[in-house]
Formats: sequence, C-alpha cells, structure tokens
Amino acid sequence: MIQLSPAAASEIQRLKLKQPQNVLFRLAIKAGGCSGWFYEMSFDETAKVGDRTFDLNGIQLVVDAESVKYIHGLTVDYSEDLMGGGFRFQNPGAIATCGCGNSFDFTQEYLINHQ
Ligand code: FES
Repeated sequence: MIQLSPAAASEIQRLKLKQPQNVLFRLAIKAGGCSGWFYEMSFDETAKVGDRTFDLNGIQLVVDAESVKYIHGLTVDYSEDLMGGGFRFQNPGAIATCGCGNSFDFTQEYLINHQ
C-alpha cells in the first residue's frame, strides 16, 4: 500500500537516532498547504486508537485511521540536490501538486471513494 524507498528509510533512520528510544515515526495527511492537503511527518511517543502500522524497509511507520484513507499507492522517497535534501511524495491519487511537493489535491471522486 505504501512504499518507502531505501533512501527515505535511511534518512528516517538517521533522524530517528536523535530521538528517544522506541519513538514512533508518524505520517499524517492534514488539510492545508498550497494545494489543499499536505504531508506531515513527525516522531511520536504514543500510538493512538485506530493507528495502522507498516513495516517498510526496516522502519515502522504509523498512520492514523483518517490519513490512511489518502495514501493508497503512496511512494515516499528522499533525495538531495544543490538546495538541500528533502522527502519526495508520489501519490497516484493526487491530481495536483504544489511547487515544493509537500502539498497536493485530490479529485472529489477520490475523496468520496475513500471516505
Ligand atoms: S506547500 Fe506551498 S509550495 Fe508546497
């Protein structure tokens, strides 16, 4: 359902080493950003009711019950360029993506089908 590239997993692992032990890596979809929705990545010390957990390339990824509806087929990659490094998201359900790549929009049909 979700893909995490080896480069993304490696970067998350590197960031996680600076966190307290047993911290969870969380991905969420929130309303906002230039295109209507955006990806939020964070470390969280507690799991929530309804969370789904994915084991991807050695990373345990936690997604809340609402966000999991919007990440079907999502690929998370990490790359660096002259402007710095960042996570890159490829979401097959997105019909528009902002310039930085963190915000996106869905079709109404996608939103209805994934409610
Ligand atoms: S959220 Fe504004 S350019 Fe990406």
